[in-house]
Amino acid sequence: AARIAVLVSGRGSNLQALIDAQANGRLPGRIVVVGSNKPDCAALDRATAAGIDTFALRQRDFADREAMDAALDAELRRHSPGLVVLAGFMRILSPTMVAGWPGRMLNIHPSLLPKYPGLDTHARALAAGDSEHGASVHYVIPELDAGPVIAQVRIPVLAGDTPDALAQRLLLREHALMVAAIALVAAGDVQLTPAGIQFSGATLAAPLRL
Ligand code: GAR
Repeated sequence: AARIAVLVSGRGSNLQALIDAQANGRLPGRIVVVGSNKPDCAALDRATAAGIDTFALRQRDFADREAMDAALDAELRRHSPGLVVLAGFMRILSPTMVAGWPGRMLNIHPSLLPKYPGLDTHARALAAGDSEHGASVHYVIPELDAGPVIAQVRIPVLAGDTPDALAQRLLLREHALMVAAIALVAAGDVQLTPAGIQFSGATLAAPLRL
């Protein structure tokens, strides 16, 4: 089974979905460590409650971003993960660090990428008058939120939606998306190659709809 490391910064509801999937036998892998850039975040408590090793690093303890990323990378590598999953990890990793995990680092982002990389995705979808919103699981490349997209979930925008209402409705679907996409990668059914994402022997022409 794949050894999975998860990086988190906040609430940790996506991490919890992965923990629950593992407990239910729906994750063909094992979460071996959870790391954070926020020592007090709720996500770390969820990992501890599940008996998973954790670590936390703070930027203020390092001279610069590269130094912290090097330490983060070293902590991850102590656990020899095959996959690194960014689940609500709100720090932009340096290109050097990202380059060390080619095809092995995944992120969940709350928009229908390539729409709305970065922050405030729900408010931006509403401001644009979009009729659909969603979330994406993608491979991480040095350019922010720009890596190949494995899978997406779509939800309708409803009349009267606020950013919070939209975010909450989407979150429930994000969890299922996250588990399904990570399961595909952990099982080896999805792989990133120079030709693009391979899914069951063929190049993926468009993100899977989960
Ligand atoms: C999720 O909505 C995730 O998609 C988003 O942060 C939230 C984390 O929630 N991620 C990003 O915005 C990444 N740039 P969680 O801590 O409850 O999983």
